[in-house]
Amino acid sequence: MDRVVVSIGGSVLIPEKDDAKYIKALADMLRDVSKEVEIMVVCGGGKVSRYYSKTGKELGGTTYQLDELGIGVTKVNAKLLDIALGDAGIGKVPQTAEECASERRIGKVPVMGGTEPGHTTDAVAAMIAKACDADRIVNASNVDAVYTDDPRTNPNAKRLDKITIDDLEKIVYDEHDACRSSVFDPLGVKIAKEHRIDLLMVDGRDLVELKNAILGKEINGTFVNSQ
Ligand code: UTP
Repeated sequence: MDRVVVSIGGSVLIPEKDDAKYIKALADMLRDVSKEVEIMVVCGGGKVSRYYSKTGKELGGTTYQLDELGIGVTKVNAKLLDIALGDAGIGKVPQTAEECASERRIGKVPVMGGTEPGHTTDAVAAMIAKACDADRIVNASNVDAVYTDDPRTNPNAKRLDKITIDDLEKIVYDEHDACRSSVFDPLGVKIAKEHRIDLLMVDGRDLVELKNAILGKEINGTFVNSQ
């Protein structure tokens, strides 16, 4: 039985247009695939967490405090998805990666948010994957794959079908802000590399693509080989 951790970006979960419709469709898909694989989900904070971070900063908040605000939003987002899952949800938001991993079972989908200041929910996904020796991590963001550069600003950026975890490590460390990455949290990459967990980078708004990634089928996004 495959074991899969899904990291869903906050802006994918809350598209700010028909949010309930997307979350319901996502929950239905997750309920469906939870009968075939053991799934655990982590939700990001999206625009709402950026709003709190910005406002908290204007009020003189420390980096630690801004992270705490972000974590709060990720947990609220996780609760939304748990509600949408109904019977397939576990009725609570796990507080640690270990607790989330221990809640996994066929037909159930534990959903959590962040844990501690200093990293993002991508890193939490890798921590859960480590805790339960998962087969793969699926990163559902609003970018359809990994590119050689930012496709929004560089029209020559090339889409990558298949890369190694060392290639991804280079990409995330080369990014502008050394520790905060838009592709995948560098701490998450480090954990995935150490524990040889493959990463699948897909467009989370495309539920067919996301389902294929969870089930380990062919994807249009980027497959990151950690073996
Ligand atoms: P996200 O995981 O959404 O991070 O957590 P992000 O990088 O801003 O969003 P994506 O990956 O581009 O979608 C939101 C914020 O919450 C805090 C961080 O400040 C993060 O930026 N956070 C989250 C933590 O401090 N610890 C956690 O475990 C999770």
